[in-house]
Amino acid sequence: MNEGFETLAIHAGQEADPHTGAVVPPIYAVSTYKQDGVGGLRAGYEYSRSANPTRTALEECLAAVEGGARGLAFASGLAAEDTLLRTVCAPGDHVLIPDDAYGGTFRLFAKVLERWGVSYDPVPLGDVDAVRAAVRPETKVIWVETPTNPLLGIADIAALASVAHDAGALLAVDNTFASPYLQQPIALGADVVVHSTTKYVGGHSDVVGGALVAASAELGERLAYHQNAMGAVAGPFDAWLTLRGLKTLAVRMERHCDNAERVVELLASHPKVTQVLYPGLPEHPGHEVAAKQMRRYGGMVSFRVAGGEQAAVDVCDRTRLFTLGESLGGVESLIEHPGRMTHASAAGSPLEVPGDLVRLSVGIETVDDLLADLSQALG
Ligand SMILES: Cc1ncc(COP(=O)(O)O)c(C=O)c1O
Repeated sequence: MNEGFETLAIHAGQEADPHTGAVVPPIYAVSTYKQDGVGGLRAGYEYSRSANPTRTALEECLAAVEGGARGLAFASGLAAEDTLLRTVCAPGDHVLIPDDAYGGTFRLFAKVLERWGVSYDPVPLGDVDAVRAAVRPETKVIWVETPTNPLLGIADIAALASVAHDAGALLAVDNTFASPYLQQPIALGADVVVHSTTKYVGGHSDVVGGALVAASAELGERLAYHQNAMGAVAGPFDAWLTLRGLKTLAVRMERHCDNAERVVELLASHPKVTQVLYPGLPEHPGHEVAAKQMRRYGGMVSFRVAGGEQAAVDVCDRTRLFTLGESLGGVESLIEHPGRMTHASAAGSPLEVPGDLVRLSVGIETVDDLLADLSQALG
């Protein structure tokens, strides 16, 4: 049966509990499982780092909604990234990363993986020829974020998949900003999808988690081996919360997009705003590609404020309903100053972000309240 996104998000990997009939997978708060004689596992479970039934339900659901062969759930998005990179790369290998990658991803490359012998080059992913030219014989992965954090740049996933595959490299797509509801990288040729499930998938700012979804069973098996060997797994309660969030992803994303479009309208005509970065705007350089590969344009909006860095910081300090905080993708609206907050670790690097930039994660509150709050904060 070819089930729709919402059906998969609510049912994939989730049978009613065989003992009680509970319609939601229970939180299996357990580390080990009784064996019926040595090696006699009742349901394939022996130790919860290797597998846990609550996590399995989430992993199967993630694979289904991303259209992949295997899903794996981790303790955080960065734990998922680290496990992926240390599965598919070895010392001496090279990776291409976005020139405005998420700051924590950049830090993982610059401060951890480089010491381990993996080199990287930041490239403008919107320019496919530049990416092709930057590929080296030792390039093992092209790392894609689209839309990017925080500049909302767009990369053409299908075009970059052919660049990667021509070079014998893998295409990894961080799908955190779009969520599987708005964008399906595997259908466009990606080999593996990465998520900070902390964001839209979890959706309620109450859990930190990460995920990998592999397009092939073979890559899925290698990743699962390393997930167990490295051990940065999602705990059962975190897996349960994330699965609970995933069930409502589609309806939440529709409202995030509705509200973000209204916020963009307000900002685009505001005299204190010098630029609005949103892939839904026809003048956005990635608009055509975004229209081709995304269902809608998402709930993240960035903008630049007239008056420079202090003016941008002042706007962040003045909102009342938009909470000043890092992270994104929850039901509540958040505002932040990337240069001093989420992307402070990229200061002085090629990935440094403009000081006059403000990033919004537009939540699903009453949109008129959000517009009133932004208007008073902009003055
Ligand atoms: C695009 C993106 N990828 C990865 C991460 C890392 O995820 P986590 O914070 O769950 O480790 C983040 C976190 O903000 C992110 O925004």
